[in-house]
Amino acid sequence: MTFGSLQAVPPDPILGLMEAFSGDPAEGKIDLTVGVYRDDSGCTPLMRAVADAERGLLAAQATKAYLPPVGVAGFLDGVRSLVLGPLAETLESRTAAIQTPGGCGALRLAAELFGRAEPGRKVYLGEPTWGNHSALMTGAGLTIEEYPYYDPKAHRLRLDGMLERLRGAPERSLVVLQASCHNPSGADPDPAAWAEVLDVVEERALLPLFDLAYLGLGADIEADSLAVRCAAERLPEMLVAVSCSKNFGLYRERTGALLVLAAEPAHRAGLESNLEQIARSVYSMAPAHGALIVERVLGDAALRESWREELAAMAARLAHLRSEFANALSALRPELDTTWLARQRGMFSLLGLDAARVRALREERHIYMVDDSRINVAGLSPSNIPPLAEALAPLLG
Ligand code: LMR
Repeated sequence: MTFGSLQAVPPDPILGLMEAFSGDPAEGKIDLTVGVYRDDSGCTPLMRAVADAERGLLAAQATKAYLPPVGVAGFLDGVRSLVLGPLAETLESRTAAIQTPGGCGALRLAAELFGRAEPGRKVYLGEPTWGNHSALMTGAGLTIEEYPYYDPKAHRLRLDGMLERLRGAPERSLVVLQASCHNPSGADPDPAAWAEVLDVVEERALLPLFDLAYLGLGADIEADSLAVRCAAERLPEMLVAVSCSKNFGLYRERTGALLVLAAEPAHRAGLESNLEQIARSVYSMAPAHGALIVERVLGDAALRESWREELAAMAARLAHLRSEFANALSALRPELDTTWLARQRGMFSLLGLDAARVRALREERHIYMVDDSRINVAGLSPSNIPPLAEALAPLLG
């Protein structure tokens, strides 16, 4: 017997909570778990521009034949421009790009590529970081080191610790950096701090892999891509894993891309052939549907404008919910500093509670968050902020 030897593994620490939540019969249960955007009624909306583009796509499509191995050319062009802005054109000859199954696909491909190019070299992940980063990296055979990133009790970035650790990293190590809306902390370096990080990356000849999963959900496209664009201007090489799950609301369509900046235009073809071969050996090619939608949205001035407006409204709503939640907590505990909640950006914040407390909240109050006390800010709403504040205010330090 082959499969009898397999032991059951625990559910995914983030996605596993979806099932736990839906199996809880309690009325008034609150879901602050998986990072999906929600409106005040708890729904994850289909964005207007996405729905329009999809209708156009269905009306026009004549075939489901294979795409070229790198994916939809117009999608990749659109993503490059979105991420790199005016640099996209200048750096075109040095930028390899491949469509991927979501941001996870891009991260895994990046890890596999790095393992091929730099066998034995390690990857540095922030502490804390998104729960799936380590599985994606070790799955590609990479060994992980950590750099300090955020102190959840003090609600502060650990910039000095981060810089010191990266200064000691061996040359050409891979460093995963989240470009904006840090998952799980919501705390991003400001432009001055990013400049310090990039100084060290450049001095130590490290290779950054930017995880860009929340572009536009922090402040706006330009501000959220600042670190990536600064890096592209000054570094010879870097990678960017792009996800369209959150900012286009295309979660289940698994739509993403990996951009790789090469030191020389002559390296681009070799890079792309390796990316194609790695993808072919795992999943052959990425699914087309989401990429064709994004291609249409970005390629049409009216759809693009509608998408930008809706995205800006989503970002503004997240910022508003942060302030409302901070105010509700402060009203109950005026001595508590909650300014960090409103200062942070994007979908997530860490409350700084230990796992036992988080589990007790789940079991006793039916409030669901990830074990590290990460909340999905988009799960807050005018109706659940009061009971949440009442449950959490006594616990926060
Ligand atoms: C999250 O962090 O909750 C999202 O990115 C969803 C996921 O795949 O973990």
